[in-house]
Amino acid sequence: MQRENWATKLGFMLAAMGSAVGLGNIWRFSYVAGENGGGAFLMIYLVSVLMIGIPLLLTEVSIGRKAQSDVIGSYQTLAPRKPWFLGGFLGLFGAFLILGFYSVVAGWGLYYLWNYLTGKLAVEPSVGYGATFEMFITSTYQPLFWHALFMFITIFIVLSGVKKGIEFANKIFMPVLATLLILLAVYSLTLEGAMEGVRFLFQPDWSVLSNPSVYIAALGQAFFSLSLGVGTMMTYGSYLSKDHRLPGATVGIGIMDTLFAIISGIVIFPAVFAFGIQPDSGPVLVFITLTDIFSQMPLGGLIGIIFFLALTLASISSSISLLEVPVAFFMRAMNWSRKAASIITGIVIFVLGIGASLGMGVLSDVTLIGDNNIMDSMDYLASNIFLPIGGLVMALFIGWHFTKEEALAATDLTGSKLGTVWFWIVRLIAPVMIIIIFLNALEILPF
Ligand code: PHE
Ligand code: NA
Repeated sequence: MQRENWATKLGFMLAAMGSAVGLGNIWRFSYVAGENGGGAFLMIYLVSVLMIGIPLLLTEVSIGRKAQSDVIGSYQTLAPRKPWFLGGFLGLFGAFLILGFYSVVAGWGLYYLWNYLTGKLAVEPSVGYGATFEMFITSTYQPLFWHALFMFITIFIVLSGVKKGIEFANKIFMPVLATLLILLAVYSLTLEGAMEGVRFLFQPDWSVLSNPSVYIAALGQAFFSLSLGVGTMMTYGSYLSKDHRLPGATVGIGIMDTLFAIISGIVIFPAVFAFGIQPDSGPVLVFITLTDIFSQMPLGGLIGIIFFLALTLASISSSISLLEVPVAFFMRAMNWSRKAASIITGIVIFVLGIGASLGMGVLSDVTLIGDNNIMDSMDYLASNIFLPIGGLVMALFIGWHFTKEEALAATDLTGSKLGTVWFWIVRLIAPVMIIIIFLNALEILPF
């Protein structure tokens, strides 16, 4: 069967940006930055994006485009009978794990969108926003319903195909999302006390840098946010033809994603400070603080609709990219139809997510990694371990399995000075940085 392709290069750009911009920028970035000290974390994060993230983004997309295959097939095509493809399996598992919990959180967002639309959350519930959220996520069935609905939407788009599903959805979602987020950021900056939040986000408190966990958190966040290391970008790259130039495109995607993270930081932290909330309140930060904040704002009900609509669109454009990783693999390796692959893998991921969801309530005593609950453990394992190792394999693959000429040709960098810089980053600097950050983090890992 003929492999599918993007209709236009813009379609690819929007889809790749759609994949990158998601819960990672809004929900995850704000709480990870909040827990790791704000400004200093942001610095390390920016260095990780620039020195490791963007060069690896170019690497991952190029491998896919050259091989024209999925995350495992690409390695097998370019390096037959060599063990590189094992890195692809890491990515495949990472995609299952991430989408498993991602879809649960996205389901919370969908539930909040629904409750803003019906007006229920526009005014503060009698027990307060914190308890309302707590009651919702710890309950057994309700979050599962929204998780199922979110997976249903994701499966539906992916089974509609690369052009008619993924590309079409992103062409609509991305412009709307960008507009909504910018509107929110401008509004947030006009709040009284906004400057304190801006200061928290931008003014580094260097003392946090002595803590090794800050580095692994920043690296994991960079990989997560740029959709790196699971094979999403490889798979999306495999639907590109050779006549598009990649370096500019990937730098654009990286900058866009980082801008969106900073913009959502600007939306969230001023509001957090303006209303006297702790910036390190963890994964619940967005849901509890923002709803509280919206209710105290003029037109808060409308702002709530806009915010959770943006969150939902951003989540869907990322979740479809995660589902596409196993779908592309099973379509090729097992000869499944797109429809069968989407539905079967989607159901498996839904089941994985049930664990993450129940881990907030009836299974909250279950801790897997350290004292992390099921969801945080899935996130930790995938984002801080699988993704960086997956990315490390990609860097070593292009840096050592390819000759320099091949690597430059694959990335459209032949004859450019930047090419040499990029090549040495992926061949040496990025791998060494990733390994150092790992070794450094080992002393705080519970195993
Ligand atoms: N980058 C997405 C986000 O920020 C999440 C994601 C991770 C998507 C890995 C695909 C692969 O929300
Ligand atoms: Na992101």
